[in-house]
Amino acid sequence: MKITVVGAGNVGATAAQRIVDKSLANEVVLIDIVEGLPQGKGLDMYESAPIEKTDTRVIGTNSYADTANSDIVVITAGIARKPGMTREQLQETNAGIVKTVTEQVVAKSPQSILIIVSNPLDVMTYVAYKISGFEKHRVVGMAGILDTARYRTFIAMELGVSVEDIQALVLGGHGDSMVPLVRYTTIAGVPLSEFADKPTIDKLVQRARDGGIEIVNYLKTGSAYYAPSAAAVQMVEAIVKDKKRILPCAAYLQGEYGIKDTFVGVPVKLGRKGIEKIIEVSLTPEEKAALTKSADEVKANIAKLKL
Ligand code: NAI
Ligand code: 2OP
Repeated sequence: MKITVVGAGNVGATAAQRIVDKSLANEVVLIDIVEGLPQGKGLDMYESAPIEKTDTRVIGTNSYADTANSDIVVITAGIARKPGMTREQLQETNAGIVKTVTEQVVAKSPQSILIIVSNPLDVMTYVAYKISGFEKHRVVGMAGILDTARYRTFIAMELGVSVEDIQALVLGGHGDSMVPLVRYTTIAGVPLSEFADKPTIDKLVQRARDGGIEIVNYLKTGSAYYAPSAAAVQMVEAIVKDKKRILPCAAYLQGEYGIKDTFVGVPVKLGRKGIEKIIEVSLTPEEKAALTKSADEVKANIAKLKL
C-alpha cells in the first residue's frame, strides 16, 4: 500500500503522521510545492517510526515521480480560511491548485483512489473528478465525517456522555447549508430528543454548522487540522482495510436523493474500491428540501468554475 498526501501544510502533514502512526501503508509520500517543507516534515516523521514502532517509510518530495503508483492520494493542497472569509472565497485559487495537482497525480497514479480535502470541499471534489476522468467511485470528498464529529463532540460536551455512544449523520455540502439529521441522532440507540429539549438541540446543530469558523476565529492564521486530518485518515483506513464502513462523504450523485451531476455529502459504503455504494436513507420533506438547497448551492458554485 502506497499513500500520497499532497500538501504538507497543517492538514496534510498531520494526516500523513496519522497514517504513519497507524501503519496504514508501506510507504507514505508527502508532496508540496514549497521546497524543503515536505522533505523536512517527512524525514522528521520517518524518524518517529522507531518510537511509534512502525515500518512505514516516509518520503518528502517536490517531484510527482516519487508518487508513482500510489493506491490512495489525499489532496489537501490549497489556501485555508482566515477570519472573515467564507470557504467559497477560496474557490478560484484552490480550483487552479486542485486542477494542477490532479493532472500530475493521475499521470503517475492512474489506478488510485482520490480523497479530496481542499476547500470549498464539494466543488474541489468535482474539479478533481472532472480533471481526473476517474470513475465516480474513485473520487470522494472529506467533510461529513468532520462535521459529524463536531456535532457528536458538542452533544457529548453538553450532555456529559461519552462521544463513543453518540451516533449521528450530517449530510449536505460542507458549508453553512450542511444538514445535521437530528432524527437520526442517537445516544446508545436512544433518540437525542429524549436527552435534550429543542432549544438545546438547535444550539448544538448551529454550533456544528459554525464549527469550522469557530476554530478559524481562535487560530486567526488558518483553519482546523487535527479533527480534519483524523476524518481524512478514517476514510483512508476504511479503504486500506476494506472495512465497508458507512460514513458521510462527498459523493457524485446521479439521481440519488433526487440530485444529479454534483458532489454533496451523503452516507456511503467505503471499502477497497472506494465508494462501493451510496446509501439512500429516508428523509422528511423538510430534510429533503434542506439537502436539495445545499446541493443547489454547490451546483451554483460549480457553475462559476473556469476549468
Ligand atoms: P496549509 O496552508 O497549512 O497547507 C496547504 C499546503 O498546500 C501548503 O503547504 C502549500 O504550500 C500547499 N500547496 C499549495 N499549492 C500547492 C500545489 N500546487 N501543489 C502542492 N502543494 C501545494 O492549509 P491546511 O490547513 O492544511 O488546509 C488545506 C486545505 O484543506 C484548505 O483549502 C482548507 O480550507 C482545507 N480544509 C478542508 C477541510 C474539510 O473539511 N474538507 C478541513 C480543513 C481544511
Ligand atoms: C473546517 O471546517 C476549514 O473547512 C474547514 O474546519
